Amino acid sequence: MPSLPSIISQRIADVAGIDPELRPATKPQFGHFQSNVALRLAKAEGRSPREVAQSIVERLDLGDLCEPLEIAGPGFINIRLSSEVLARAASELLADPHIGIVQVESPRTVVIDYSAPNVAKQMHVGHLRTTIIGDCFNRVLRAQGHRVIAQNHIGDWGTQFGMLVEQVLVEDLDVGTLDLPAAEALYKRANAHFQADPAFADAARLRVVALQSGDQRTHAIWRQLIDVSMAGFNQTYARLHVLLSDDDIAGESSYNDDLPVIARDLEQRGIATIDDGALVVWVERFDAPLIVRKRDGGFGYACTDLAAMRRRVGQMHADRIIYVTDARQAGHFAQMFAVARVAGYLPDGVEARHVGYGMVLGNDGKPFRTRDGSAATLTDLLDAAEQEASPEIALAAIKYADLSNGIQKDYVFDAERMVQTTGDTGPYLQYAHARINQILRRAEAEQIGFGGVTVLGEPAEQGLALLLTRFGETVAEVADTLQPHRLCGYLFELATAYSTFYEQCPVLRSEGEVRASRLALCAVTREVLARGLDLLGIEAPERM
Ligand code: ARG
Repeated sequence: MPSLPSIISQRIADVAGIDPELRPATKPQFGHFQSNVALRLAKAEGRSPREVAQSIVERLDLGDLCEPLEIAGPGFINIRLSSEVLARAASELLADPHIGIVQVESPRTVVIDYSAPNVAKQMHVGHLRTTIIGDCFNRVLRAQGHRVIAQNHIGDWGTQFGMLVEQVLVEDLDVGTLDLPAAEALYKRANAHFQADPAFADAARLRVVALQSGDQRTHAIWRQLIDVSMAGFNQTYARLHVLLSDDDIAGESSYNDDLPVIARDLEQRGIATIDDGALVVWVERFDAPLIVRKRDGGFGYACTDLAAMRRRVGQMHADRIIYVTDARQAGHFAQMFAVARVAGYLPDGVEARHVGYGMVLGNDGKPFRTRDGSAATLTDLLDAAEQEASPEIALAAIKYADLSNGIQKDYVFDAERMVQTTGDTGPYLQYAHARINQILRRAEAEQIGFGGVTVLGEPAEQGLALLLTRFGETVAEVADTLQPHRLCGYLFELATAYSTFYEQCPVLRSEGEVRASRLALCAVTREVLARGLDLLGIEAPERM
């Protein structure tokens, strides 16, 4: 069901001919919404804005949705929803299993490419962001009824595996005994060895060839490196409470067989050409071509992404593909999408979106580092937050800080501030939820029953009810724009409106129908907060 504001907006648009651009009223005495539509139309119509407003109001039929409309100041239209209608809308949320989240009529198949750490390297703070943001999209799109397929495009292939396997053999290591930090230490030793010893470097290059041609021993060690790395990633996923599972893994290596097929296809159709020994595709507006196959015959990151695109569209039937990586990869994805369009791997009806996020900074405004100055891993960051609060609260703090800022922006990781239960933080929202729960528990203990929201006499009650009815459209906005901060902002506003309500309107200390109605309002607020937090991947504790 469309929300009340959108119904009203549509009716005004039908009469006025343009979008009324409803804004929340700046003061309670102006009603709930205001529109400046008459001011915008007046000039063209050659009449005063007040006259235009008058004629719109006269022609408008809003049934019993609103109180009589008022024209204010130079010609603003003030709109006040009828409190019965508002009460009914709030009550409906309580009965709706989706709490106002509109279920899409035609579900799309949405692939979300997120997390994607690299084998034999610990997840770093950037991987925190892709994992949290991608998971939020996953939850939001599922909540609307879309089919969501998460794809964890882990970096499990490339020439670095030559030196890794070679180093394992030189050291006679049992990879099965390693954990992820130990695998990363191995990586560093392999790299240093590669730089320092030309004979080792040659052996590592031959090892790449052995891996590519499926040599058994080499292949087995490579596999083990993936397994120990995945075990480490899964520990982090469990700690982060994300939806990702082993079923979502589609690493770079899973496209190996497709790469020569892509190269041949692009070359045969004249889309790719040989340029200085490499096979490349030129697309307009890019200074450099996209490299399909390198001079040495190897395939790179871009070709793997083309293969992934082709599989996601051709085999998974994706209608929408979302890539969540750091903002610096924006150019790569723009170019890859352009090539995929030309090649027909990404047909016109399929939407591809790259969502780039900013960096996580320390208090000094530089990329977040550990105390000893080394680049921080994701585990370091989680540990730092858990020094300040319980795991549940620390996690809420991190996720909220990550999602609430406009994801393209850098943000400062200030654990001490983020875990506060006051201000615009995750724990504040958890706390609001726990507080409402406490009231409802007390009502239950005192056997005070309630049904729906029936009376909304006070402005604070109306304000709260109005916000509650906007939950569904807020979720829809996040799904369309892929901007989770809108949901964060909404939930913060809701928690604040609830506090105002709580200060101004006694709940348990009032009586009769008013008390029952206020308890119902508390119950809807709790549901919306809990569901909203869940969409951000944040738990809503019963008590705090
Ligand atoms: N493994 C890459 C990294 O850590 C991210 C991969 C993102 N996904 C993709 N389809 N390219 O930066």
